[in-house]
Amino acid sequence: MNKVLITGGTGYVGSHTAVEFIEAGFEVVIIDNLSNSKIEVLDRIEKITGVKPEFHEFDLSDNQKTADFFQKNKNFDVIIHFAAYKAVGESVQKPLMYYRNNLNSLMNILQGMKDYQIENLIFSSSCTVYGQPEKLPVTEKSPIIKANSPYGNTKQIAEEIIFDTINSTKNLKSIALRYFNPIGAHKSALIGELPLGVPNNLIPYVTQTVAGIREQLSVFGDDYNTPDGTAIRDYIHVVDLAKAHLVASERLISNKNKTNFETFNIGTGNGNSVMEIINTFEEVTGKKINYKISPRREGDIEQVWADTTYANKELGWKTELSLADALLSSWNWQKKLMS
Ligand code: WQD
Repeated sequence: MNKVLITGGTGYVGSHTAVEFIEAGFEVVIIDNLSNSKIEVLDRIEKITGVKPEFHEFDLSDNQKTADFFQKNKNFDVIIHFAAYKAVGESVQKPLMYYRNNLNSLMNILQGMKDYQIENLIFSSSCTVYGQPEKLPVTEKSPIIKANSPYGNTKQIAEEIIFDTINSTKNLKSIALRYFNPIGAHKSALIGELPLGVPNNLIPYVTQTVAGIREQLSVFGDDYNTPDGTAIRDYIHVVDLAKAHLVASERLISNKNKTNFETFNIGTGNGNSVMEIINTFEEVTGKKINYKISPRREGDIEQVWADTTYANKELGWKTELSLADALLSSWNWQKKLMS
């Protein structure tokens, strides 16, 4: 049985990925410091799959704790590294917190891999490495331009750290999956996006507004150079995203990778504006969203969506779930949270 270490595995994308790996027959080990997730997620994963993953609670940016972990746990076929802070807006306010956490954690993982010859790393990267692309849709060959936020910059730097470490380490190889905007929840509504405190991301803010937890949704800017003036993103169902990690892991484990550091855009290939999200959500749920137009949020880019040709062809992966599926599942998840 293949064994996978998932860091940040009680988080939003991590927990959905753990479910897919268990259902694909992997033994799953999770590390999380529960700074942005709850330990109950482990029971939810067990309810969905019948298996409760082995769990270790500590902060991966702690060098000694991470070294001690690897000293006792070294035989992983692949490591998937999610653990990071990920709110664009927040990173503008707290850059040092983002650089320290996101980069120290990654370096500690890489050190453990070097020390114990763990060969395969899937890195949770982001379309934010492209900044505001000149040309859309964005491909893996699109220029990496200066990120608009410290969050995006941590992803750019992280990819460089991985690349340089691979070049100096025998048998180490990695795939960076550049996510677009993960949304939605597992069909069971037992796991989903669970932001602690006020949500930074659009969809949880929408569902919490409809649920009456938040007063009103602020649409951050309607003066962008887009058809309806609101910003455009590529919103991908989190289950489709989780499945991409499985395909990428199997590619590395079976040595099908073309080079020792590959990057793939993991999106739907479609862009939707904030207003299109609001309208689609209202259509699929029959619920009205109370919103107002507010000033732009610092750090936001205007528009980005993926060219997924390379991931579709080379990885043999593509999205199967629609925007409507994702938005409906996020509302079902919110309702379950309140039941
Ligand atoms: C989406 C759009 C906001 C909240 C995300 C992740 C990041 C990375 C990239 C993976 C923007 C607008 C939001 C609100 C709003 N993904 N918005 N009102 O900033 O694109 O970043 O995708 O690595 O981890 O955070 O996502 O959901 O914050 O914003 O109008 O209350 O919705 O301005 O245009 P973002 P988001």
